[in-house]
Amino acid sequence: MLDDQVVYDVYSYTRGNPDIPGHLYWGLTVLKPLLINNECNMTKGHFHEDRDCAEIYFGIQGEGLLLLMDESGKCWAEKIYEGSLHYIDGHIAHRLVNTGEKDLKVGACWPTTAGHDYQAIEDHPFPYRVLKRNGQIEFLKVGNQNEL
Ligand SMILES: [Fe+2]
Repeated sequence: MLDDQVVYDVYSYTRGNPDIPGHLYWGLTVLKPLLINNECNMTKGHFHEDRDCAEIYFGIQGEGLLLLMDESGKCWAEKIYEGSLHYIDGHIAHRLVNTGEKDLKVGACWPTTAGHDYQAIEDHPFPYRVLKRNGQIEFLKVGNQNEL
């Protein structure tokens, strides 16, 4: 893969005030359908700095997974498809994974005051990675890099 390959884009928009609780962002994430050593393309993932701020995701195009992880490290996934709707509690980390053959487009709506906590993910990464081999999705427990 080229060093300057764009793997995903995130767009956000608001007419509100980012500093006032109750105002909202609307967003769009577009993930390319890339495989790196059989691993599906994914976003970095985050908790919200303000854990009281929830978020709505909704599938617009493509196929993917929403990886979710609570603060104890328990991890699960929801399928994303055109028309799917996902409510994400503020105490749940969230990451998008493109498991399909075309761009995965996911809309989002969240409070302007939510913030993004990426550090918590760096300190305690998602415990599963998502692979695709021969068209089949596989979950790999992190720490078993040799199976990639
Ligand atoms: Fe979020």
